[in-house]
Amino acid sequence: MRLSNALSPLVDFCHAIRVSLWPTVVDIYTSPSLFLRPSALSQIVMAHVWVIFGNPTDEGARTAKQGLITPNAYGIVLDIGAGHGHNVGYLDRNKVTKYLALEPNAQMHPHVRRAAEGAGFTEEDGSFVILSCGAEGTPSILDALRAAQPPVDTIVSTLTLCSVPSPERTIRSLVRDVLKPGGQFLFYEHVLSPREDVAWWQRAWAPIWGIAFGGCRLDRPVHSWVDGLTLAESNGVVASPWSERRLWGKDGESEENVFWHQVGRFVKRS
Ligand SMILES: C[S@@+](CC[C@H](N)C(=O)[O-])C[C@H]1O[C@@H](n2cnc3c(N)ncnc32)[C@H](O)[C@@H]1O
Repeated sequence: MRLSNALSPLVDFCHAIRVSLWPTVVDIYTSPSLFLRPSALSQIVMAHVWVIFGNPTDEGARTAKQGLITPNAYGIVLDIGAGHGHNVGYLDRNKVTKYLALEPNAQMHPHVRRAAEGAGFTEEDGSFVILSCGAEGTPSILDALRAAQPPVDTIVSTLTLCSVPSPERTIRSLVRDVLKPGGQFLFYEHVLSPREDVAWWQRAWAPIWGIAFGGCRLDRPVHSWVDGLTLAESNGVVASPWSERRLWGKDGESEENVFWHQVGRFVKRS
């Protein structure tokens, strides 16, 4: 593996620290108790970082998102870790009735609101809802939607499952409790590489990278967790919940990329 590929996160990491350091110092000065609240501090750093990184990251993902989200998302769409709401721009307004933006970082909410309104989804007519809990908070999601049955037709996760706590448990409960039978789980994530040398560097970078990027881990095999998911059926049999599954890579991506992506479309059995 080329050293330039192995060290490629260093450039973005230094850039992220540079752009977030001063505004974060100002935030700590105005609210010193942030020092005692590491998760709030991490969200603040990430909010400053995403102002600079959000647009170029979306630009780099455009082709993959256009192939994944636009032709497939329909009905009630739950976008986990909506960030600045970039994904709403890929939704076909004729096929999507409601956009649920789940975003625990409140500093991102003004951005996602603007993006949703720009795409024709509004809180006034009920076609747009912000959920402030984490993706792991499925009871809060169901409470907020006042749903007794799984209410969502399409779950979208782009570059989010790298940051959620207990990702395997979170995926399980999103698919079991939130996704309707026949609904789809769409994801675009950077994941653990099958190449040992790349995976070694991903594991080495993971704890450092997360400091600047909201706890993001580079070493999670998210695609394998979704693909290998099993759920207990009503008769007690444990089986895959998927009736269709498709995984593919990002066009033109080098397999030496430390940010190795997988794109997936999985349909839950009816
Ligand atoms: C790298 S950004 C990606 C944003 C957006 N999905 C996109 O592709 O532009 C990761 C997002 O996940 C959010 N996030 C962090 N922890 C989360 C959690 N537990 N549940 C849901 N989202 C979370 C962050 O606040 C951030 O907005």
